[in-house]
Amino acid sequence: MSITLINQANQALNNAYVPYSSFRVGAAVKMKSGNIYTGCNIENASFSLTCCAERTAIFKAVSEGETEFIEIAIIANTDGPVSPCGACRQVMAEFFTEKTTIYLTNIHGKLHTTTIEGILPFHFKL
Ligand code: THU
Repeated sequence: MSITLINQANQALNNAYVPYSSFRVGAAVKMKSGNIYTGCNIENASFSLTCCAERTAIFKAVSEGETEFIEIAIIANTDGPVSPCGACRQVMAEFFTEKTTIYLTNIHGKLHTTTIEGILPFHFKL
């Protein structure tokens, strides 16, 4: 379990731009290179343009030329471990392999460790 990555996701949660939902989410991805990219959710007055924390972090990595994801940590103030939305699961399926570890956690210390097959089995791929 990567305490460091979870802590970085928790830090990113503080940057969430959430004037509409007040629901903060933080994410952090660790790459094969060792680099870490963080993300938060970024809302918009045109609600559907909102970008989730997971996608912010993943897109930051890919836009820096990195696509080899080792781990992701996602955190929110939920009762149990936060459950990523379907759109983010599909984006994870684009880049993650069975070896990519997914840490779903919350600010109370609950943790569920899984993989892309665990959260989006039989996913769409071209
Ligand atoms: N949100 C995320 O950041 N990640 C998810 O997987 C679920 C939803 C955000 C989007 C929006 O800003 C807020 O949570 C409420 O839906």
